[in-house]
Amino acid sequence: MKLPKLTIGKFTADLPIIQGGMGVAVSLHKLASAVANAGGIGVISTAGVGWKEPDVNTNFNEAHDRALKRELESARKLTKGIIGVNNMIALCNHAEMAKVASQNADIILAGAGLPMNLPAHLVEGSDTALVPIISSHRAARIICKTWTKRHCRVPDAIVVEGPLAGGHLGFSYEELKEYEKYSLEDIVVKVIEAVKPYEDMSGKKIPIIAAGGVWDGKDLAKFIKLGAAGVKISTRLVCTHECDVSPAFKQVYIDAKEEDIVLIKSPVGLPGRAIKNKFLEAVEKGDKMPFECPFTCIRTCVPADSPYCIALALINAKDGNFDEGFAFAGSNAYRCDKIVSVKEVLEEITKEAEAALEE
Ligand SMILES: Cc1cc2nc3c(=O)[nH]c(=O)nc-3n(C[C@H](O)[C@H](O)[C@H](O)COP(=O)(O)O)c2cc1C
Repeated sequence: MKLPKLTIGKFTADLPIIQGGMGVAVSLHKLASAVANAGGIGVISTAGVGWKEPDVNTNFNEAHDRALKRELESARKLTKGIIGVNNMIALCNHAEMAKVASQNADIILAGAGLPMNLPAHLVEGSDTALVPIISSHRAARIICKTWTKRHCRVPDAIVVEGPLAGGHLGFSYEELKEYEKYSLEDIVVKVIEAVKPYEDMSGKKIPIIAAGGVWDGKDLAKFIKLGAAGVKISTRLVCTHECDVSPAFKQVYIDAKEEDIVLIKSPVGLPGRAIKNKFLEAVEKGDKMPFECPFTCIRTCVPADSPYCIALALINAKDGNFDEGFAFAGSNAYRCDKIVSVKEVLEEITKEAEAALEE
């Protein structure tokens, strides 16, 4: 059976696959355009997108606006496919980033906090589709209710991110310890039920996308059978030629064993999933890495109380400096064993999914 296409707002992708946004500078225009060219939806992450701008320390907002505009323009030159932007609500400049994205991105995906006011941040007349990323049916309901009341619209789709994802997670440490209780499959089914009244009320379909630990075509087929419209995949796309991050970062994924994928307490106050290394072990032992806060980039971060600066740690890792940084990764990172092309990954997933849908 052929895979269904994925329609979000006025955009239709040939494959029901969204590439997850990955900061800092892991998913920029190269990865996003390659995914879009292969038939999926490519996504540029706004987290730290302006870190290379010469004025980033003194002119944080403008530096990021400029860099995001440039990434979007570069992606547009490489593809005619669908390009989205991942915007974390925890970022201090998320409203500004949404405004920039609403002028050139097809879709904004917003998580790491509930994007209650996202529709208000777009430029007038923008038809950029809006997709909240949530981790529970309660959050889906709150967003649908608030957007209906406040903004007279419902989301164009919703991403449900389960406990096996990488980066910052939408669960407490306690919930993650018993993650079997919070299976992505259960949450997806509950979210589909929770949005139904809002689909009926608005007359609009709200496609539900499953994310977190999705690896192969069997996973994709499983979520389609459960009623999801598609999946969002990040970790598997790091070890591709087109991924924007340094070869050293990709090698850390290839070298990782299952036991190296760990939960950490991020200085931003959320749990995260990452690949264990000397830097994280030192932090766990209580070492402090003093820093001058150059950006104040995350709303919940209190620099004076943080053992290290997460933005700097992720920037260092992106460039391959793992003495002063670490790699975020999903629970499947240990399954990466070689660098391949995005096209190969998406073709393999599609073939497997189509075979699994026949069963
Ligand atoms: C290296 C890395 C960086 C990430 N950065 C972000 C980010 O900037 N914003 C965000 O919303 N999610 C981020 N995530 C989460 C992913 O976008 C994605 O939703 C999740 O990891 C999906 O699970 P998977 O990695 O198992 O496919 C990141 C994940 C990884 C692995």
